[in-house]
Amino acid sequence: MSTSLEQLVELLNSEQNSNYGSLDELKKILESEEDLLSKCLVFTFDFFSQNRADELKSRFVGKKSPLQDLLKSLKNIPAEERKGAGQLVNQTKQAMENAVTKFLKTYEEHLEQTKIASENEDITLPTCFAKLGSRHPISVVMRDLLVPFQRMGFAVVDGPEIDTEFFNFDALNVVKEHPAREMQDTFFLASEWVLRTHTSNVQSHAMKERGIPLKIVCPGCVYRNEFDMTHVPSFRQIECLVVDKGIHMGHLRHVINELLSAAFGRPVKIRLRSSFFPFTEPSAEVDVECQQCFGKGCRSCKHTGWSEIGGCGVVNRKVLENCGVDPAIYSGIAFGFGVDRIAKDRFAVADLRSLFDGNVEYLSSFSLT
Ligand code: PHE
Repeated sequence: MSTSLEQLVELLNSEQNSNYGSLDELKKILESEEDLLSKCLVFTFDFFSQNRADELKSRFVGKKSPLQDLLKSLKNIPAEERKGAGQLVNQTKQAMENAVTKFLKTYEEHLEQTKIASENEDITLPTCFAKLGSRHPISVVMRDLLVPFQRMGFAVVDGPEIDTEFFNFDALNVVKEHPAREMQDTFFLASEWVLRTHTSNVQSHAMKERGIPLKIVCPGCVYRNEFDMTHVPSFRQIECLVVDKGIHMGHLRHVINELLSAAFGRPVKIRLRSSFFPFTEPSAEVDVECQQCFGKGCRSCKHTGWSEIGGCGVVNRKVLENCGVDPAIYSGIAFGFGVDRIAKDRFAVADLRSLFDGNVEYLSSFSLT
């Protein structure tokens, strides 16, 4: 077995004289061609590459190989010698072609084997059909809600889920005797700590920490002591707060429109209904046309044709003052929406609690990606 790559290249490049004067000479040429080929074929596969294998083929049995030249030159020799010479060349050609084909086939098998040996995965093992999960309806709404906010340049901020009464109530102008502070609604923890009842607690944190102007959105979990078809004790809200010079209700209405179309994945009819929140003045409840009866009135919307999804308003000047912001210079807008409530409406879920039963079959029926 030969050892050097240079030798192989040299053999492949060697030219053969295809001129001959007699049958004997022709035989010699053919023999030396066969000899050359056999020298090449004993090289180890390591010296071959796809290119070199192609070279081998074209050098010995290709259209421009010396053998082809010999065949072409047969017409120049005397008729009586032509037949014998032709047979000789054809026999040799056939033998060499067989040898090259056999060699290339084994070479390909060798390549395949090397490839398989280098793979550490057993591709012949039966496939494991892993079941791909689907996104939870609430995650989908949360994701869609954040898109317009990011487009409008809002910062997404986080707020504490365990907070002091001060941030959850006092800073927001919620007086001590307000019903929201009662045990039925709020989960009180040790001393003055509570589980936040709304994402509005982030308002004062953000104003104090980030300063003014401010344009933030805060998605997160909130907690209230309630449990029925439309309420669960731990649910998600999304809070929006903008404080700057000249901010007014018009801005509020625009952001709400943008947001709710994204949240429902289609344009929806919205209504602002005058209301009261201690931390906004004026205040309004935000209603969306019932997505099950489209305003006609059904059980889901308690025959009102509308579904309430949150509150909003112009930030109360007392809240600004509590956070050291001068209400003579700055004004703000804020809203807080129930994300679970939006998901319930968008996906026509009759009982909100069914979204939290952990019933995978039910949840995958929404086929959300
Ligand atoms: N925090 C209020 C709630 O949970 C909603 C709200 C947020 C209202 C901001 C006005 C402004 O009901």
